Amino acid sequence: MGSVAQHVVGVTTGSRSYNVFVEDAISSRLGQIVREVLGPKPRRAVIIADTHLPMPLLAGVEVSLFRAGFQFDRMGIEATEANKTVRTLERVLEFLASRMHERGEPVIALGGGIVGDLAGFAAAVHRRGCPVIQCPTTLLAMVDASVGGKTGVNLEVETAGGSTLLKNAVGAFHQPHAVVIGLDTLDSLPARQFNAGLAECVKHALLGGAFGDGELMEWMEEKAKQRSGETTKQGEAPCKRGAWRASVGEASVLRELVLRSVLIKAKVVAGDEREEATSATGGRALLNLGHTFAHAIETLPGLTFRTCEGEKAGALLHGEAVGLGLLAACRVAAEMSRCEEGLSGRVAALLQAFELPVAVSGLPSAEDIVARMQHDKKVLDSVLRLVLPTAGCRAEVVENPARELVVGAVESLRDKGR
Ligand SMILES: NC(=O)c1ccc[n+]([C@@H]2O[C@H](COP(=O)([O-])OP(=O)(O)OC[C@H]3O[C@@H](n4cnc5c(N)ncnc54)[C@H](O)[C@@H]3O)[C@@H](O)[C@H]2O)c1
Repeated sequence: MGSVAQHVVGVTTGSRSYNVFVEDAISSRLGQIVREVLGPKPRRAVIIADTHLPMPLLAGVEVSLFRAGFQFDRMGIEATEANKTVRTLERVLEFLASRMHERGEPVIALGGGIVGDLAGFAAAVHRRGCPVIQCPTTLLAMVDASVGGKTGVNLEVETAGGSTLLKNAVGAFHQPHAVVIGLDTLDSLPARQFNAGLAECVKHALLGGAFGDGELMEWMEEKAKQRSGETTKQGEAPCKRGAWRASVGEASVLRELVLRSVLIKAKVVAGDEREEATSATGGRALLNLGHTFAHAIETLPGLTFRTCEGEKAGALLHGEAVGLGLLAACRVAAEMSRCEEGLSGRVAALLQAFELPVAVSGLPSAEDIVARMQHDKKVLDSVLRLVLPTAGCRAEVVENPARELVVGAVESLRDKGR
């Protein structure tokens, strides 16, 4: 594994070992890194890019590739879950085929998790596999989606109740040849999206004790406290560009947060590349901490909750739902005396500092939500399995937790003030 000081994290898996490079600017070394990783032979690349990225950023990426001797074509993807489908995958594959994209030539995935998952899957199946370089442009994709090789798309299926979008129902494990993170890509990311990524960092902090970084949680708390002090002192309004500055402050804090989160994800993945671990204390399944709750509430319409953009009505972002799921998981664990009693309070304080919702109004009954959790893909033989935190920023998979505790934790997410 690389160290934080080097700004490079090594990921070692059975199928491929690669580096995650954390750069201040995506354009500074992207071309050079791709050339170093793939050698002198490939002369062409295809960039699959999120259509919401600013033109100067795209231009910087293209110049960097050009300087490293690559000719390139670019295809834009509208990054919505409804568009993350087999149909869009087919369009990407047709684009690659029409460019006579060869097996040794790279696909450059430039965008958030939607583009990364789609372009990664296309690279996995085009000519039975070509290299993909993941260049994540959301915080969530930097610390989570771009690392670990999971790729895929949603599947729209007709059921008795109408058409349903099954998330990530088809996919492949296809490790990238490199992950190149340019922190400057976050300058254009909306604040709400950035904060949603912070929830995944809190999740990593809650797992860090088992993966070499039991101090990440405290470090985040300290930085959040300093930040709130500074904001009050200066009366600073959240900036529109570089919204991350409003949430985490200095660039060095952002870099360290990304590096430490990636290091934890890399260690989880190294221990269980294909999510096959069955032991209760290990494996990639731990990354689902908070997610069983989150999946049951994230697509619910008609919720009202507080974000950095003020009061919102509608559906939660995935990261916002994960934050709430982390809170619920901590509350179940505390009731079972599996973690420190004060943990949920600490998590709630961190989420509030990051302007993430800690309660929502408009939730259906807690019983209904727990029934939805029973449909989660992690449920086997009708046994509900929850990843719950334990002492020392660790977690484990718990089978069949008492239903009333789960119902109580869900109920605790209801905003009773409205
Ligand atoms: N493969 C994995 O291991 C893994 C892990 C977690 C999540 N995911 C997947 O990731 C997806 C969510 O990804 P996400 O949260 O990164 O969001 P996203 O890809 O949905 O992007 C969120 C929004 O931000 C916009 N955007 C992205 N980067 C931007 C930038 N720099 N400037 C301005 N706008 C920008 C996008 O166009 C989109 O509107 C889900 O589909 C999820 O299933 C995959």
